Amino acid sequence: MDGNGRWASRRLLPRVAGHTRGVDAVRTAVETCARRGVEYLTLFAFSSENWRRPADEVSLLMRLFVVALQREVGKLHANGIRLRVVGDMSAFEQRLQDLVREAEARTAGNTGLTLTIAANYGGRWDVLQATRQMLQDRPELASEPSLIDEAALTPYLAMAYAPEPDLFIRTGGEQRISNFLLWQLAYTELYFTDCFWPDFGEADVDQAFEFYRTRERRFGRTSAQLVDPRVSSTPADAGVSSKPG
Ligand code: FPP
Repeated sequence: MDGNGRWASRRLLPRVAGHTRGVDAVRTAVETCARRGVEYLTLFAFSSENWRRPADEVSLLMRLFVVALQREVGKLHANGIRLRVVGDMSAFEQRLQDLVREAEARTAGNTGLTLTIAANYGGRWDVLQATRQMLQDRPELASEPSLIDEAALTPYLAMAYAPEPDLFIRTGGEQRISNFLLWQLAYTELYFTDCFWPDFGEADVDQAFEFYRTRERRFGRTSAQLVDPRVSSTPADAGVSSKPG
């Protein structure tokens, strides 16, 4: 959700005004995705690196998270949305941690859109914490590293409950991943737009979906194989039907 600061600066407003308007854009994106039948929406709200920002901006962002949780969770719940937060929550103030856990528990049984907020999240942090937890649970792997494969590690990633993303959207004109879901984005379609996050509305969500529809997802195969799965593949590929390659 990039471009909040520049959206505000262009209007001669303080950067934090952009974050406040960014919350409205979050609401629009969640409503639009829920209406369109999206099953998982993950928003990168605060990266592990965002602590480097000026203290007043960081504290405003924390306040926005608290207020948004207090105000919006009832509505999310009423709409069948399940809320999850991923990231190193231990760095946040206790009140925010409590609100997050309460909101997650309250919406846990919902079966509509799963909305994940990534907060104090970093893709590298995620791979490292997953590795540590895996080795803690399965210490035998430390002496037999050849047994460590993707299937062993992925259950420990913070978003193990969700499939890998189909579409990644970055607003604000930058064309980089910035330490988001590094492991999970391996085969995701990447969409970059100059639109600043506070301006990212329903039509912009649909435009991103339209881009996605034009993509051919080959997962390492050829176009011919996608048209006719019987077109020969190597023995190594035999039996691999849904795995990226
Ligand atoms: C990046 O834009 C945006 C952030 C670091 C914060 C995103 C937070 C929100 C949209 C509000 C709160 C979210 C929730 C889920 C309640 P930037 O400030 O880096 O923009 P710039 O590149 O123009 O400076």
